[in-house]
Amino acid sequence: MKVLVTGGAGYIGSHTVLSLLENNYDVVVYDNLVNSSIESIDRVEKLAGKKVEFVEGDICNKDKLSQVFKQFKIDAVIHFAALKAVGESTQIPLSYYQNNVHGTVCLLEVMQQHKVHNFIFSSSATVYGEENDVPYVETMKLGTPSSPYGASKVMVERVLADLALSDPNFRGVSLRYFNPIGAHESGTIGEDPKGIPNNLLPYVAQVAVGKRDKLGIFGDDYPTKDGTCERDYLHVMDLAQGHVAALDWLNRHSEFSGVEAFNLGTGNGTSVFAIVKAFELAINKEIKFEVSPRRAGDLPAFWANANKANQQLNWQASRTLEKMMEDTWRWQSNNPNGYLA
Ligand code: NAD
Ligand code: UFG
Repeated sequence: MKVLVTGGAGYIGSHTVLSLLENNYDVVVYDNLVNSSIESIDRVEKLAGKKVEFVEGDICNKDKLSQVFKQFKIDAVIHFAALKAVGESTQIPLSYYQNNVHGTVCLLEVMQQHKVHNFIFSSSATVYGEENDVPYVETMKLGTPSSPYGASKVMVERVLADLALSDPNFRGVSLRYFNPIGAHESGTIGEDPKGIPNNLLPYVAQVAVGKRDKLGIFGDDYPTKDGTCERDYLHVMDLAQGHVAALDWLNRHSEFSGVEAFNLGTGNGTSVFAIVKAFELAINKEIKFEVSPRRAGDLPAFWANANKANQQLNWQASRTLEKMMEDTWRWQSNNPNGYLA
């Protein structure tokens, strides 16, 4: 089975490509490298001992996408390609809607032209917005995310729902990721943010390796156990395997049409202070930090109810927080400058 992976050179994409290869799927990666390096694909090929077809291109370029569908007999698409920085999306919202919403529509149109119906979408826990209580469960109504980035994910989920209503052949899965962290245990592929990291773990790791002076903890006066925000962190390799599980689920359910959402998380919330402590323990070194003001748009705490994925996809996040920390550190210390080194 041949899978087109858009955004496959990125953080979650590269780990998923490896999992797909390990599970005997053939992979074509389509990526414009706006936030990634081709080096990630070279390393994935080495780890898997298999070849990946790579095409550099933008999902908004329908002609180029169409060429890819003509050249390769694609059976399913896993769609990671998107801009993903929450803060940046408030500065340049039009780029986010163009890339994430318009780009997805272009991809779906080309898929339709080429009669490819199996689609897995990178959604996010952010689609639950502020309105829903934790833990988040798939039966909840979609909420109103606080950023254009989050809104773009809600919009795409809406596009998929409408497409599924109109096209009886469409077979879509939205995977709502909670907070992916960590790296492949080889330490050769991992998260390589450009510039100052927005997310917690890459920032902590860069402090540990001496690239940043200290971590700013965004608020310690939230209504949580220790005052810092709580999130559902899951290992990126568990998340990668969630995509394989979703593809297997589509293959097992040949009668299925429509669109189905699954939360991919552990079901546990962990605070920022607890993450810093766990990282210190894993590397046996102190992480300098200071408490700074709250970051706009942060919710106090959210985590997944992952029962649906556990039961229907036969998927469970199994790697421990300790393993997430060790693997983050192995990647960061082996590659202090990411893929550029
Ligand atoms: P990433 O930036 O590492 O990967 C995204 C990839 O898409 C990059 O390789 C980038 O070059 C590519 N890309 C972006 N725009 C493109 C375009 N127009 N055409 C072709 N390629 C394009 O990000 P990631 O963390 O791996 O995230 C992957 C997906 O998962 C995204 O859709 C993101 O919104 C979603 N997601 C991520 C998180 C997270 O915490 N990392 C959480 C929830 C959802
Ligand atoms: N944090 C800090 N200091 C930092 C970075 C983060 O204290 O330097 C805190 C944040 O305030 C938050 C927690 O660490 O409480 C986690 O923050 P991240 O930025 O790592 O993750 P978010 O939960 O804010 O966002 C992530 C993804 C989004 C996605 C969202 C919901 O980055 O794409 O989860 O799924 F929308």
